Amino acid sequence: MKRIFSGIQPTTDGFHLGNYLGAVRNWVELQDEYDCVFCVVDLHALTIRPDPATLRSNVHKLTIALLAAGIDPERSLLFVQSEVHEHAELAWILGCVTQLGDLNRMTQFKDKSEQNQGNVNAGLYTYPVLQTADIALYRATHVPVGEDQVQHLELAREIIRRFHFVYGETFPEPQVILSKAPRVLGLDGKTKMSKSKDNYIGIGEDPDTIMKKLRSAVTDPQRLRRSDPGDPKVCNIWNLHQFFTSEEKREEIYEGCVSAGIGCVDCKKILWEGITKVTEPIRERAARLEADPAYVNAVLAEGAAKARAIARETMGDVREATGLTKGEG
Ligand code: TYM
Repeated sequence: MKRIFSGIQPTTDGFHLGNYLGAVRNWVELQDEYDCVFCVVDLHALTIRPDPATLRSNVHKLTIALLAAGIDPERSLLFVQSEVHEHAELAWILGCVTQLGDLNRMTQFKDKSEQNQGNVNAGLYTYPVLQTADIALYRATHVPVGEDQVQHLELAREIIRRFHFVYGETFPEPQVILSKAPRVLGLDGKTKMSKSKDNYIGIGEDPDTIMKKLRSAVTDPQRLRRSDPGDPKVCNIWNLHQFFTSEEKREEIYEGCVSAGIGCVDCKKILWEGITKVTEPIRERAARLEADPAYVNAVLAEGAAKARAIARETMGDVREATGLTKGEG
């Protein structure tokens, strides 16, 4: 059986276009083909020590955003990581086969330690072990992610191999499904679109806010005047057009840009139309869901119950393999 697992952190009140193009959009499509398990990973988010009330509200809002974007609880499991205790339990066990040398190579740990200099905690360091536990607990065979998670998934495969070497075959070795938009850049046109940098467009933002953000987005730095020809290859607005604008319109924009026939303002306006065509229906569905918190809570409760059943079964095998007591009490 092919099973998908993927997760997203509740670090803002929803997700941004990078998450959408790099992950969530694919999750929605993969539901047709795979048995899917999607998780709001609140334990991972604790590594940056969010305010407790904000964390709880972000979990609720991110769940709404995922449902509004098309995650279908009739077909997929959607739940909150901390509601299934086995994640933390398996993370400990996998931590006991994980080598420090492997953790030391993780670029995300290095980046996050720099960003959070006052709080370089052990959770940040062992973050990929918990991520491996997330995947292994559901015996996932495939993990759809953006490029920034590929190194973590290589380590996940290594941790699973080490576990197998010591205790015998227990989990599938998960394959990465890399998005067609593996690394969406932010409005600065330079760094990855990210919640920790103020360089993103949120999926739940209203059209005016999106326009305002696009207006300030960096284009081809060589194009100083409207009459200067532009180079689409170095322009992030052009990159974004690949995902939101029809091929025919894109040809027009390309020609217009290199011949200075179209200015950056008009080019951004066309992108804005494409983006809002995607974000507005999501925003409308989210507004309806926000009015029905009981439904959202019921989805999460049911998701957690089903996730727990799978997780318990896997932990039974893990306990058996490792020599821990059966833990049936
Ligand atoms: P997170 O919350 O940072 O991101 C969620 C998903 O969005 C993708 N993504 C991007 N893709 C393209 N361009 C971008 N600018 C961009 N920014 C984010 C990420 O690659 C990811 O797929 N550690 C994970 C969460 C996690 C997880 C897991 C994922 C926890 N356990 C198990 C897979 C399997 C994370 O921080 O994602």
